Amino acid sequence: MQTIIEPFKIKSVEPIHFTTKDQRVNILRDAFYNPFLIKAKDVIIDLLTDSGTSAMSSEQWAGIMRGDESYAGSNSFFRFEETVSSITHMKYIIPTHQGRASEKILFSITGGKGKYFISNTLFDTTRANIEFAGAEGIDLLCEEGKQPSLISPFKGNIDLIALEKTIQEKGVENIPLVIITVTNNSGGGQPVSMANIKAASLICKKYSIPFFIDACRFAENCYFIKQREKGFENKTIFEIAQELFSYADGCTMSAKKDAFANIGGFLAMNDEALAMKCRNLLIITEGFPTYGGLAGRDLEAIAIGLKEVMEEDYLKYRIRSIEYIGDKLDTVGVPYIKPTGGHAVYLDAKAFLPHIPANEYPGQALCGELFLEGGVRGVEIGTVMFGKYDADGKTISAPMELVRLAIPRRVYTQSHIDYVAEVIIKVFKRRETIKGYKIVYETPLLRHFTARFEQL
Ligand code: F0G
Repeated sequence: MQTIIEPFKIKSVEPIHFTTKDQRVNILRDAFYNPFLIKAKDVIIDLLTDSGTSAMSSEQWAGIMRGDESYAGSNSFFRFEETVSSITHMKYIIPTHQGRASEKILFSITGGKGKYFISNTLFDTTRANIEFAGAEGIDLLCEEGKQPSLISPFKGNIDLIALEKTIQEKGVENIPLVIITVTNNSGGGQPVSMANIKAASLICKKYSIPFFIDACRFAENCYFIKQREKGFENKTIFEIAQELFSYADGCTMSAKKDAFANIGGFLAMNDEALAMKCRNLLIITEGFPTYGGLAGRDLEAIAIGLKEVMEEDYLKYRIRSIEYIGDKLDTVGVPYIKPTGGHAVYLDAKAFLPHIPANEYPGQALCGELFLEGGVRGVEIGTVMFGKYDADGKTISAPMELVRLAIPRRVYTQSHIDYVAEVIIKVFKRRETIKGYKIVYETPLLRHFTARFEQL
């Protein structure tokens, strides 16, 4: 196979500061073994998130200069609106400062006590916003999605049988909406098939329940559909995206992912009454409906980024660069969620460190070791992020113990990625010596951001 090269040249660079292993021991201890508490200057390769960390293109930077900062009716808003509308065909497009602001607005209006929101898998901020509004989130991931080593094309699919059953059990009147995350971030960045989206949408129609898409990584999902689903081989990503959104009544979006923007998001929907309520709340919390918490220049960057992300040379390189890490890990049998997803490699910490039980946080321990070994920063997606306590204070563990290494868009080159694979493999070779953690400080909601740990 011919090398797939980065489809861009580099015009502006940012230095990386190198640290020694001895320095990293102190850095990690001072950060209470929580990657979120490490200073960015102390990280060599930062794979904490692909969110807001993209490199913008020269066109986007040009758009920044063109940004119209008018309070109301800005030109930049209309360019943004036109682009979002061309992809989603939604009637009401509401800019927000990021994905969770869209969630906060949507779920405070539709949620509340006794309500249930059903998903393939809710992302942590989505679940938190649902719970904060007093409602409950229900994840109904398909069986394939729960088996990390199983190779299957659409492991992000929702379980359709469970969806219908849950609607009947909980009662239509208690389900304000169903929301599908594409790709499924918390479940390995795995894609959802068009057939699954269409079928889920039909079930929702049957019960008159609005069907939403959490669209953060829609382009990556559409590329997988083109690669893996019959009938889409010859369609453009734009056409596939249009079909995907055609099944939805609305969407939430963080433009910090598949729009290459460093900040931004939106809410889009077809229901006028709901849109008016959202806009009213937007004005109180975010800003006037033609800027919604963003500068005009941000709206320009998003509008341009949304078009660039659908270019196939880019997506081919993007998806291959993630798969490339997986290929390297396969040479020594490092366990990870297979096949690799759209934006990250998810190491399977349960299989990597089978001697560490869930209540000693194997994912967190693995994150610590990757940092110590090579200054690589990833994030735990496991019992630290999603674990709960039962009435007796015993840990209810998350279904999977993962470490996500998310690859920022257009930021790192192949040699950076080679280095990351080397670091993982070195840690894998000494895995028996790694010890678990205990939590010494935590908050009730989204504890992973601020929790403090001690090594056991
Ligand atoms: N939905 C999904 C699927 C996400 O991955 C995120 C953010 C959000 C919603 C919220 O968007 O950050 O703009 O408020 N995910 C980031 C991550 C933080 O690291 O995966 P936001």
